[in-house]
Amino acid sequence: MVLDIIEQIEKVCISPNSVCNFACRYCYFYNPENPIFPQKNLTEADIRTILDKIYDYSVKFNLKKKIKVIFVGSGEPLLSWKEISLAIEGYRSEGNHKKVKFYMVTNGSLLSDEIVRKMKELAIIPSVSLDGPPLIHNKNRFYSNGNPTFDAVMKGIKVLRRFNFRIIINPTITRELVDNIDLFFKFIAMEKFDKVIFGRMIDVPSFFPPISYDNFYKILEVIYNRQKIYNFKNIEIGNIEAFQKAVKGEPERVCTLIGSCCGAGTTNLIYLQKEVYPCGRMFNDKNWLLGEFDQNIEFFQEKMIKKLEKYETKCSSCDLRNVCIRDCILETSSYLYNCQTRKEFLRFMINELEK
Ligand SMILES: C[S@@+](CC[C@H](N)C(=O)[O-])C[C@H]1O[C@@H](n2cnc3c(N)ncnc32)[C@H](O)[C@@H]1O
Repeated sequence: MVLDIIEQIEKVCISPNSVCNFACRYCYFYNPENPIFPQKNLTEADIRTILDKIYDYSVKFNLKKKIKVIFVGSGEPLLSWKEISLAIEGYRSEGNHKKVKFYMVTNGSLLSDEIVRKMKELAIIPSVSLDGPPLIHNKNRFYSNGNPTFDAVMKGIKVLRRFNFRIIINPTITRELVDNIDLFFKFIAMEKFDKVIFGRMIDVPSFFPPISYDNFYKILEVIYNRQKIYNFKNIEIGNIEAFQKAVKGEPERVCTLIGSCCGAGTTNLIYLQKEVYPCGRMFNDKNWLLGEFDQNIEFFQEKMIKKLEKYETKCSSCDLRNVCIRDCILETSSYLYNCQTRKEFLRFMINELEK
């Protein structure tokens, strides 16, 4: 396992609840075959405890970079807006917010003027889970009562525009998106979104058609080529940028589902159901449980380093090691693991950058 012990926690995801007003068909958390029960929601005081631990860690290790704190997870964060906003307000009043940068991934349907105004005041950067135009989005993203959600999400985006937020969307790569990729690109051009971060779809309920690891890397190449064909000057594609940075020797250790390499447990943590895991995919797996929400951050990191010592891979002899950094730990520890298509994509990106 390639592990750089000077890695520091850079990104902390906080799932404030496990409730959602949506019931997206592919959702790994809102899975009718495996519902999360009982739902453990964070109180304002719990969120403050986590934020204080992040502050202590940043001060103790004299971190120069701000830690990214992202409200996202197993439910809709805006259903915990009161708890989140009050916790951040208290944190800011003590000046501790200078050590962090706040983000939120939301389904967008609950964005009101009042909430968005407060988001601006609290410097929370939102991104919206929109899968594309209605033909793509409404195939899978429904309200719990079965109604389609596209119009409500676009209404939320309109509020964000009114308050001058950059519009960042997080589409999940479904078959509908792949089959309608040109429609998708025409839509984002028409809407003039500022940034798109595609999410690799994983661990779907058994009734939902999956996208394989191999297909995901092939689709990334398609996305790269479409971005060139459509000649976007002002729309960033987060995934492509992440690989370009990795090729240039400046990798961001985030997550292979949305970026170029995995930072689970060593640079990233996620708080879910009051427990702490290296990443969301590891939720509910006791082998990967790092601890409880009120423990010190460095404790989780130390525990993770010990866990990783058990995972042997052949990466040390790979010629792409310095660009790849680390593939998803759950993929590499599977015994059917084969990273050929990831390597092909990395080589493709290296060639593109050398052109
Ligand atoms: C689980 S949701 C929680 C936050 C919020 N409710 C929302 O919809 O944005 C976080 C992100 O995960 C994505 N997601 C849901 N199921 C997924 C899956 N099986 N694979 C990959 N991403 C998924 C969603 O589309 C969303 O962008």
